Amino acid sequence: MMKWIGWLCTLYLSFSSIRGDCLETERNLFLWTIEKSNGKQVGYLFGTIHVPYTRIWDRVSNRVKEAFHRANSVILEVDLQDPSTLRRLIKCKNLKGKQRSLQYLGPELHQRLQHYFASYRKKLISVLKERDDAEAAQAVIANFNQAIGGWDRRRAEWLLFVLYQLCDNNLDREDSPMLDAYLAEMAAASGKDIHSIETANEQCNPVQSLSEEQVVFAINYTLSYLEYQLITKRNPSLQQINRSRRTYDIVRSYECGSLENDVFKNTHSNEKFGSHFNQSDVQRAKQIDLILKDDILIKRNFRMADRLDKVISKDGETNFFAALGTGHFIGEKNILDLLKDKGYTIKPVKEDDIV
Ligand SMILES: *[C@@H]1O[C@H](CO)[C@@H](O)[C@H](O)[C@H]1NC(C)=O
Ligand SMILES: *[C@@H]1O[C@H](CO)[C@@H](O)[C@H](O)[C@H]1NC(C)=O
Ligand SMILES: *[C@@H]1O[C@H](CO)[C@@H](O)[C@H](O)[C@H]1NC(C)=O
Repeated sequence: MMKWIGWLCTLYLSFSSIRGDCLETERNLFLWTIEKSNGKQVGYLFGTIHVPYTRIWDRVSNRVKEAFHRANSVILEVDLQDPSTLRRLIKCKNLKGKQRSLQYLGPELHQRLQHYFASYRKKLISVLKERDDAEAAQAVIANFNQAIGGWDRRRAEWLLFVLYQLCDNNLDREDSPMLDAYLAEMAAASGKDIHSIETANEQCNPVQSLSEEQVVFAINYTLSYLEYQLITKRNPSLQQINRSRRTYDIVRSYECGSLENDVFKNTHSNEKFGSHFNQSDVQRAKQIDLILKDDILIKRNFRMADRLDKVISKDGETNFFAALGTGHFIGEKNILDLLKDKGYTIKPVKEDDIV
C-alpha cells in the first residue's frame, strides 16, 4: 500500500527534536470520536502507520484496542484481505505486456539506474560482510532485492516510488505485517464488516496531475541524489543498515504521540548534490513535490472524507472503526477538518477516557 511518509527522498521532514524520551505534553493517541450533528457518536477514526506492527503495537494505546474490538465494522483505505484487490494492486504497478522502462526513460537514464542498483547491491554486500550475523545479512539483501524487484517493468510513477523507498531505506524489516495490514487481518478474523473507501484502481493511479515527462524528471532528480549519497557514502541505509533514521524518527514521534502538522512542512535539502542541476531544475523538483503532495494527500483527503460521509449517512454505519494513514489526519485540508466542514463533531480521545 502506498504511503506518503518515506516517499520524498530529497525532502527532510522537520521533527520537533524527539530523541530518547517523549516530550511531556499530552500524548496524541491518533484516535478520535466522530459524532453526527445530532450528537450521536457513530464511530472512531484512527491514524495508522505503515511500519511492522510488532515495532509499535505495545505502545498503541489500550483505548485504541478497545475501540477496535467494540466496533462492528472496520473502514480501511483499501481491503488488503481481498485476494482480487491484492492481485490488482500488484499487477497495476507494471507496464502492459512486454513493455519496459527503457521506453520512457531513454537509454542514458535506464543505464544509470541499472548501474546504480548494481553498485548499491555491491556496497550492501561489502558492508554486510563485516557483520557477524549472516542470517540477518541475508535478510537485508533479500529485502533489497524485493524492493527493486521487477523495477524494469514498473510504470514511471511506480519506479519513482521504488527510488523513494530506497532513499528511506528500511532493509531490516521485520517479518511481521504492517500495522494497517495487521488491523485488516484482525478485523477479518473477528468477523467484522470491512468497508474500503478507495478502489484498487485509485490506489494504483495515485499520481493524476503529473505528465510522464515530469515523472521522468523526478526519477532523474531522485536518482542523482541517490548516486550522490552512494558516492559520498552518506546513504543512511548503508551507514546504519538496521534502521533508517527517518523511519525511526517517525515511529518514535508516533509512539510519543507527537507527530504534528509540521512533519509535513518539509523543506528541500539545500545540500548540493550533483553539479548538473541548476536553480531552475531545483525549482522544478520542488514544484513536482508539491503536485505529488496534492495528489497523494490532499485530493485523497477530499475523496476519503466524502466516502466516509457516505458510509455514515447513506449506509447508516453507527459503530465503526476507521483506520486510515496518519498522514491523512494531519496537515492542511486533513480528513478531520473536512469532516467538521460537513457538520460532524470530532474529538480526540485521551488516555484516561472511557471508550
Ligand atoms: C543498530 O545496531 C547497532 C548494533 O548492532 C546498535 O548499537 C544500534 O543502536 C542500532 N541502531 C538503531 C537505530 O537501532
Ligand atoms: C537527467 O539529468 C541530467 C542532468 O541534468 C541530464 O543531462 C539528462 O539529460 C537527464 N536525462 C533525462 C532522460 O531526462
Ligand atoms: C537548466 O538546465 C536545464 C537542463 O537540465 C536547461 O534546459 C535549462 O535551460 C537550464 N536553465 C537555466 C536557467 O540555466
